Amino acid sequence: HHHLHHPYQHQSGPTPGKNPPSSRGLSTRKENYERDFPVYKQPVEVGCFSLDSERRFFNDSRQLRYYSEPERNPHFDLKDGYKDRFIKRDESVKEKLDHILRWILANRSKLSSKVATTASPCALDVDFVTWRGHLTKLLTTPYETREGWLLAVTRFRNTLYISEVETEAARRELENRTERHQEMMYWGYKFEQYTCADNVHSSPDPGGVVNTNEAFCTVVQTRLTDHRLLFSGEVDCRDKDPNAPGPPACYVELKTSAEICTPKQRSNFHRFKLLKWWAQSFLPGVPRVIAGFRDHDGVVVTVETFPTSKISHLIKSEPNCWKPTVCMNFCSDFLTFVKRTATEDNPSVVYLFSYEPHRDVTYSIHRDSQYSFLPHWYVREITS
Ligand code: A3P
Ligand code: MG
Ligand code: MG
Repeated sequence: HHHLHHPYQHQSGPTPGKNPPSSRGLSTRKENYERDFPVYKQPVEVGCFSLDSERRFFNDSRQLRYYSEPERNPHFDLKDGYKDRFIKRDESVKEKLDHILRWILANRSKLSSKVATTASPCALDVDFVTWRGHLTKLLTTPYETREGWLLAVTRFRNTLYISEVETEAARRELENRTERHQEMMYWGYKFEQYTCADNVHSSPDPGGVVNTNEAFCTVVQTRLTDHRLLFSGEVDCRDKDPNAPGPPACYVELKTSAEICTPKQRSNFHRFKLLKWWAQSFLPGVPRVIAGFRDHDGVVVTVETFPTSKISHLIKSEPNCWKPTVCMNFCSDFLTFVKRTATEDNPSVVYLFSYEPHRDVTYSIHRDSQYSFLPHWYVREITS
């Protein structure tokens, strides 16, 4: 099959075969998803937004940064500034889909071609609205043996909104983070500061403050089999070259990882890290992942580029490693399962889908509950 080379498709193809129907749950066994690569259209950027140092929303690209290539062995100290030049986003504030919904209201004309009627009350021309990060979790589910997830789904004007709910296990983990783990989470953002400039003509400023409230997000539209998707994802930076291809092809994903010293470490990197990196960047069509490998002491020792389209080739030497087709077919079947399950069109009804490792995906239904996530300001504006 050629699907591992560059599996975006520009035209519609045949619909892949469906799994044997299951009356209640959805299987997460990878063996059930090893079929041809599904149609996944080249993602198109339909807009973007920025969140500033106080997490305020702007319908523009003011927070987009420019990639400044470091030397191959840069010795960046990622620990620098953790104590005195770090402003951390308040993770207890659950933003749900709010920023995306704000973007939709500001750009509605780009999304709805037809006038809504009783027969076809489709306010937006998409089937699903969600964060890229939620889709990444879906893609990796058949290989996820440690962490479960909860996804809340609401059907409103025939669009399905998917928003994550924190699991009990994730909440406990957040509370029990060690000081070392807290500091290591800073390292990824510090690497961004060493390699990103605020303007095309400026240089990175490693002496500045790292503020994790700041973000630039792309909004892309695409289609997976018969599911029209609109999702947003944070983008670390873009190519400086003004002649670079347009977004999302000019975007760059930055990562840090522990340096690889043993065959065991290499195998784990391929089996677990590259799966997450691939899924995250493949979804919005980000073509390059640039990795800073750091030593135990948080010093970046080498920088390496991983073209997203080549990641799945690197892993082929690994025995029973992950496969992109399993990830995409599982995601497609999950979305089909959601469409079939979440039938009541009501902004205060939530279908809560739940995954626990080694189990099927199951769901429960909640009316006017703590899980409702579409804000009144959004429902009012879309309805009027
Ligand atoms: P690294 O992954 O390079 O360590 P992203 O790579 O998605 O742009 O995220 C930037 C950084 O945010 C990460 O850098 C990491 O430090 C932190 N981060 C992102 N997602 C996280 C998660 N689920 N748990 C902990 N830290 C996370
Ligand atoms: Mg990022
Ligand atoms: Mg990153």
